Amino acid sequence: MKDEFKTLVRELKGWTSGMDPEDAAGLYVPPAAPPARAAAKKQIETAAPAFRGEPPTAAFAPRNNQIPKPAAPPASALAQEMPLMHDYPQGETALSQIAREVLVCKKCPLGSSRLKAVPGVGSPSASLMFIGEGPGFSEDHKGEPFVGRAGELLNKIIAAMGFRREDVYIANVVKCHPMIDPSDPEKRGNDRPPAPEESAACHDYLVRQIAAIKPNFIIALGASAAKSLMDSPKASLSSLRGRVHLLPASNFPVGAEIKLVATYHPAALLRNPNWKKDTWEDMKLVMREMGLAVPQQPAR
Ligand code: URA
Repeated sequence: MKDEFKTLVRELKGWTSGMDPEDAAGLYVPPAAPPARAAAKKQIETAAPAFRGEPPTAAFAPRNNQIPKPAAPPASALAQEMPLMHDYPQGETALSQIAREVLVCKKCPLGSSRLKAVPGVGSPSASLMFIGEGPGFSEDHKGEPFVGRAGELLNKIIAAMGFRREDVYIANVVKCHPMIDPSDPEKRGNDRPPAPEESAACHDYLVRQIAAIKPNFIIALGASAAKSLMDSPKASLSSLRGRVHLLPASNFPVGAEIKLVATYHPAALLRNPNWKKDTWEDMKLVMREMGLAVPQQPAR
């Protein structure tokens, strides 16, 4: 019986190795366990929070803080309840397919007022994912998330955590610019949070993005993203901040247990720099949970 099983596994491995990843996704056989997280920890001794407005110094320079993701879902009770095999395609092929669909999406009125759709950017194998509420003026013009002033601050936060922008994945709850006046995409200050029906129209894209990447951690940027991700429309950001949540599998059936921390939106930090200290505390919580070395220096 044992030998028969071994033969079956051998055959399955041989069979899937030559397959297109999308076809093989439903037959996923986890690879051997990754190197210990201690190795990843060694990559970063210190990274200081360089997101207080100063240009990064050598000491604050981005380091490659990409940590290996566990090959298999963690053996918690929740993960054990989930099926090991799932229907969502994985990795870069899946993300490209989602992007192709987003670029021509007209599922809600935002699809008709946008200049450019903004699917997401970053590493298909990111261990850390940042999710904001929706593209603003700059993102609508460029087709990439977080490229305006808030994006510059987000880049500093990412660097202070020891990652490069290309190590993480950055996306939004909605993929098109929600505008107060949809007839004028050239107007500055024309941003608004997405309406629930707009978020609902985009939900499937976000579920598929998270399922394709399977990050260890999601950082929800701002109240709107945090409420949407936690499926808690009535919660306040202050009630969600400061602790580790699990992405609710009921709303995001991504086939893995994914931790989530909610923090301030970088645009809110630009308006209220006093919140940067609390944001850095949230980032340190994430780093500790991910097994990364946390810089000793206080946020500056
Ligand atoms: N704010 C967001 O929530 N997302 C962006 O991409 C840019 C600004």
